[in-house]
Amino acid sequence: MNDLFEQQELEERAAELRELLRYHNYRYYELDDPQVPDAEYDRLFRELQVIESEHPELLVADSPTQMVGGGVSKKFAEVVHAIPMLSLGNAFSDEELKDFDRRVREGLGVGGPVTYCAEPKLDGLAISIRYEHGLLVQAATRGDGTTGEDVTHNVLTIGDIPQRLSGENIPKILEVRGEVFMPRAGFDAINEKQLAAGEKPFANPRNAAAGSLRQLDPKIAAQRPLSMFCYGVGVIEGFDKPDNYSDMIRQLGEWGLKLCPEMAEVDGADGCLEYYRRIGEKRDSLPYDIDGVVYKVNAYNLQEKLGFIARAPRWAIAHKFPAQEQVTTLNDVEWQVGRTGVLTPVAKLEPVHVAGVTVSNATLHNADEIARLNVRIGDRVSVRRAGDVIPQVTGVVESAGDGREIIVPAHCPVCNSEVVRDEDEAAYRCTGGLICPAQLKEGIKHFVSRRAMDIDGLGDKLVEHLVDNDLIHDVAGLYELNFSELRVEGMVKEKTALALAEAVEKSKSTTLGRFLFALGIPDVGEVTAKDLAEAGCFGGELERIMAARYDDFIQSRGVVGVGEVKGRAIAQFFADFEGDVSAISDPKLFLRRINGVSENLASVLLSHFGSLSAIAEAGEENLINKTSTTIPGIGENIAHQIVAFFAEARNREVIARLQKAGVHWPALEKQDATAQPLAGKSIVLTGTLSAMGRNEAKDKLQALGAKVSGSVSKNTDLLIAGEKAGSKLKKAQELGVEIMDEEGMLALFNEHGV
Ligand code: IVH
Repeated sequence: MNDLFEQQELEERAAELRELLRYHNYRYYELDDPQVPDAEYDRLFRELQVIESEHPELLVADSPTQMVGGGVSKKFAEVVHAIPMLSLGNAFSDEELKDFDRRVREGLGVGGPVTYCAEPKLDGLAISIRYEHGLLVQAATRGDGTTGEDVTHNVLTIGDIPQRLSGENIPKILEVRGEVFMPRAGFDAINEKQLAAGEKPFANPRNAAAGSLRQLDPKIAAQRPLSMFCYGVGVIEGFDKPDNYSDMIRQLGEWGLKLCPEMAEVDGADGCLEYYRRIGEKRDSLPYDIDGVVYKVNAYNLQEKLGFIARAPRWAIAHKFPAQEQVTTLNDVEWQVGRTGVLTPVAKLEPVHVAGVTVSNATLHNADEIARLNVRIGDRVSVRRAGDVIPQVTGVVESAGDGREIIVPAHCPVCNSEVVRDEDEAAYRCTGGLICPAQLKEGIKHFVSRRAMDIDGLGDKLVEHLVDNDLIHDVAGLYELNFSELRVEGMVKEKTALALAEAVEKSKSTTLGRFLFALGIPDVGEVTAKDLAEAGCFGGELERIMAARYDDFIQSRGVVGVGEVKGRAIAQFFADFEGDVSAISDPKLFLRRINGVSENLASVLLSHFGSLSAIAEAGEENLINKTSTTIPGIGENIAHQIVAFFAEARNREVIARLQKAGVHWPALEKQDATAQPLAGKSIVLTGTLSAMGRNEAKDKLQALGAKVSGSVSKNTDLLIAGEKAGSKLKKAQELGVEIMDEEGMLALFNEHGV
């Protein structure tokens, strides 16, 4: 009885899974608009696979597990693939990969390691391109594996795909297979355009690539930055295939087709796993999206021996990276108040494992994003966590229907001050200023942070304790604190209190750039702060920066409201005028005869120049309104912020107390060119340093005049390599860049007294 029940339940679940998978295939392949993250799809697929393998009687011929996913849209001509385009089996763990390798070796009857060709698994869409006598004649999508869609018209617009093959021994017929994808940079640019045009942005580069290729109008594909890497050959005639897959692929490169530069031959499961880890580390820095790696038995005769099962070859497998996107429930939204009062919605999630970490909080960015996603509390949402980026809610997978609306609070959840929408409507802000403990805490955390005053050991918890217990009320309070009292309060241990007092003392000796950055002037980041500190016009003097007016940053010429066209028209009008302008009785009316001059502008012109004759003599350059900046990078907005910040009495008072407490920095004059032995040199730091942190080394190098950059190029003058230096060292060696070890760097610092 029980068994029967169970059997029936399984049967129903299998049917349900088949239906779900078909629906998701349709969303993904036909509409290029998937509803669920890949991980969710894979999970459903796996579940069905397990049921079918444990209960073969439930396996039906048209199950999605037996077919290649993509459908074929009616809007394109059909192309029947002479050789079916297959899919790949997946391995989700090292164990599953080892199982694959074991199956391969057993199938081949070999004991030793098998050589595989390993490549990234590109996240785009599969394409088959047919060349006849070297000329591109047809391109088709994978479709259902047997029949694809004719997208020749679009493929012809992709610059990275040659319309004619080059080189020698070109086959009579060559069908190359590979992946069309959109590089990340291109994807970002396209999405920016979509948003600007008021259109829906693409969810990811894969969708953007698929959506671009599956268009009837080739003009659309032509505007999209698509590329392609080759990873296979279908029909080939008039050319003897080499013995190995990797040699064949390199041959495609000789004919002008693009190959993935990461392709490599590896031995056995160990070689595969090492490759997997290497590419995994590189994943975030690759210019295109990948979702795993693919291993293929390299020798063609061995591939043949292994053959195929249902939808995939036995000689290849995709080893997936942990999914960066998962589905969970949005339980609530909390509003976090940042350093400048901006309110950020934080999604409180049902905890979910994403790429190896349990995520229970994710950002929803801002109110606009909530509206765009149309998300409500209770909805099932997708959550993405990639690289070092903060986890974010990326979409609604299933609406709760009756979910609670997410509303921006009218009052600050921390200090109850009024919340207002910014003028440019980008954000909602708490108006509490430093009255708001949240803003104060964040301001102090920023002040003590590594790149600001670098007060080691003053963690978030302690900052919160100090504010919550009224021990400090602003950043200057840090220097007025009695650390032994903290110990008495039981907040910190004696040793920690001593270390803290020392770190606070040490931080007093800083640079003006760091100090300005630490103050937390809105929109003044590390670079702007340094520019301000080093700007010749202020001579590195804080007092002069504090006294600066808007005009010291931004110079405006000409008349507000007069652009190039009007300026030229006015100047031309007076140049052409043959009478005596001083004799004109109604100057305003006279000015209105000029194209584009309104009554209002006529008054502005007259009050700006004082008289009609003065306008007549002004000339274009004194008419056309142009602004220029004294310090490159400090534009109108930042200039306003700087002036407003120093105008506030409270800020001036805090700064005075900080200086009184002994915070100081070296004067700019000391850093003259003769004391700058590395002036103009471009230097890169890599690896781990033992004597000091990288930031300290960076500061010292900059003090000696060097420009410290993050990546090695042919313009790099010197690479300083610490322990465990990796790819940058390799690149520098390849480029013949001078390399120095840590000891050499320390000697240099010693020599120049930094
Ligand atoms: S080989 C018979 N190599 O993954 C083997 N596929 O699930 C056919 N893909 O349809 C595919 N990168 O769209 C292969 N380096 C790579 C790949 C790759 C991405 C895609 C391709 C294929 C799907 C298989």
